[in-house]
Amino acid sequence: MTKKPKTRKLRTLPAAALVVRVEKGKGMRIVREYDVDYLVVSHGEAPLTLRTFRVWVRKLAEEARRVDAACLVIDDLRALAGGLEILDRELGELVAYNLSIATYTFTRYKTTSQKRLLEVMFRDANDAQSSGIDRGMLLASCVNATRDIANTPGGDMTPRVLADEAKKALVGTRATVKAFGPKEILRHKMGALLGVAKGAKEEPRFIMIEYKGGAPKDAPIVFVGKGITFDTGGLSMKPSDAMLDMHLDMSGGAAVIGALRAIAKLKIKRNVIGLIPAAENSVSGESFRPGDILTTMSGKTVDVLNTDAEGRLVLADALTYAELYKPALVVDVATLTGAALVALGQHASAIMTKDDAIAERISAFGEATGEYVWRLPLWDEYVKYTKGVHGDLANIQSSGNTRYGGAINGGAFLSHFARSYPWVHIDMAPRMTPAPGDHLAKGATGEPTALLVKIAESY
Ligand code: BES
Ligand code: ZN
Ligand code: ZN
Repeated sequence: MTKKPKTRKLRTLPAAALVVRVEKGKGMRIVREYDVDYLVVSHGEAPLTLRTFRVWVRKLAEEARRVDAACLVIDDLRALAGGLEILDRELGELVAYNLSIATYTFTRYKTTSQKRLLEVMFRDANDAQSSGIDRGMLLASCVNATRDIANTPGGDMTPRVLADEAKKALVGTRATVKAFGPKEILRHKMGALLGVAKGAKEEPRFIMIEYKGGAPKDAPIVFVGKGITFDTGGLSMKPSDAMLDMHLDMSGGAAVIGALRAIAKLKIKRNVIGLIPAAENSVSGESFRPGDILTTMSGKTVDVLNTDAEGRLVLADALTYAELYKPALVVDVATLTGAALVALGQHASAIMTKDDAIAERISAFGEATGEYVWRLPLWDEYVKYTKGVHGDLANIQSSGNTRYGGAINGGAFLSHFARSYPWVHIDMAPRMTPAPGDHLAKGATGEPTALLVKIAESY
């Protein structure tokens, strides 16, 4: 797909390089000494933290791009860290990773020649730093692959193409990729996925990625990613402005693909499954309607009160399918509700689980990766609001004010289908696109790819 910014290690200094030099003081400036351009940077007064360091590193890449540098050279990683207590390996990883994600832009559709892609080069890194750099670069390339998939417009990234992308992302690895078409989806009685897909000309797919890095008998971790390739809202149609970014409504699915690519490339010793129910939520005479009652794969019936609450419908069938794997943990990732954005703003994904230990671990992984999460409650008080009128369940709150607690309602709905295994729901709508100050390109952030990799590795 898109040409990736190159990040590599190097011993000699190339021409047109911008060499990073850390000095005391404030701000960033460029100076030229003996034919070498230096990006002189400083950390300012406030003590560095992991959080501030990540963003500061991304600013270096942004500055290098702004002045059109061909490559950014890092000589002294330790100086860059400015006294921050961090191991060499982690330091190498953090710097390489953040520089690489900060140099990404989505250029696939630009026909005019683009500015030269910024390369990042490391000189004089020690062995521990180098192994961190390798890992950071690999992880970033997978996050950027997630972004390429997510950023592709809905007209081009159809469910069928998404399945092809999953296959492409995993070629040459030990993972296998299969996808069900409409007939097999029907045969598996995934009535919710079929219901959502009905209005679109594009056929749905149910994508399955299987990676067996652990012992055959080890219970796998299953990642389930929402794969709505475009969300018009269906007959409960979204207003124009709200529809603008809705080609990104498969960001959860894209992150599952990117994460499995990274997991397979890193040869993580775990069994990991990726499931992506993929459909376009469109409008036609064949669309599912408000008032329709869908029968899910679990057998439970659902009153469709709003066709725009489609993510939880397709995920319901995927969460039931996940039971077949007898998983040790299921993590679903979805751009599920605008309400999660209202609740948290743009700096954290919402997580929901009834298991305190899981919530704590996922939160810690969020801190470790920079893909932050914040927990919302999934108490029975909330779960009660998911009762259906004529069906067993309703896909939006059927009692009380439907505008209150919308993100929780989404999680509460899913909890009915995630009964037989440990489970956490990640509503990543807040992190679908960058927050101001993230220093990431417009479009998809690629989150929570790195978080999923961390879960596979450390859970
Ligand atoms: N894909 C949207 C949620 C969304 C909105 C994600 C904005 C990212 C940014 C989802 O399918 C949706 O439309 N949810 C509805 C649910 C409502 C009808 C209960 C929403 O959030 O309004
Ligand atoms: Zn929707
Ligand atoms: Zn949606």
